Parts: sequence; structure tokens; C-alpha cells
Amino acid sequence: MDKKHLSHEAVILVCTRKDGRCFTKGAKLRARLRNELELQGLHKRVKVVPAGCLGACGKGPVVMTPGDSTLWTAVKKSDVGDLVAAVAAGLPTPRKDDA
Ligand code: FES
Repeated sequence: MDKKHLSHEAVILVCTRKDGRCFTKGAKLRARLRNELELQGLHKRVKVVPAGCLGACGKGPVVMTPGDSTLWTAVKKSDVGDLVAAVAAGLPTPRKDDA
């Protein structure tokens, strides 16, 4: 087994399962999350990763934020800012030498 530390402090998983109902909406949501993270200057701290089924089929798009074990369902475009803010609130405060 190999072990690798991630370069990001947090990961947001977005279901984009190809044969599921989340595929199209999940892909669009993933792009919106990445854009919002970039707008907020968090893109180097938080990574958005496509994922397979997150266990809430039919309630997509579905997002999981593993840091706080939250599953977000029926995420709308208007929810993206709140979702990113919730993830950002869980990030450690940057040290002075990280800036
Ligand atoms: S296919 Fe997306 S949660 Fe199951």
C-alpha cells in the first residue's frame, strides 16, 4: 500500500456517475464549485473531485464534504456560495508564513 498526502486541505466530492441521474447536473455543479472557489481564492486549498454514486440517487446533484461528513442533496446553483462558505469555515486558519 502506498500513502500520499493531498496538496489540498479539503476535498469536495461531487457525484458525476456516468450512468446515474447526477451526470449532467453534477458536472455543471462541479464547474460552478471550482469557479466559486477560485473567486474566493480558495482553489489552492479546496479541491473539487468527481465521484461515483454517493448513495443519494434521485436527489442530485449530490455533494459530499468529507471533512465534516456532510451529504448535500438537490444542490442548486444558488446553493454554491453557501456550500463553499461552509467548507471554508472548516478550514484551518492560514498561518502567516502560508500567505
Ligand atoms: S448516482 Fe449520484 S448519488 Fe447515486
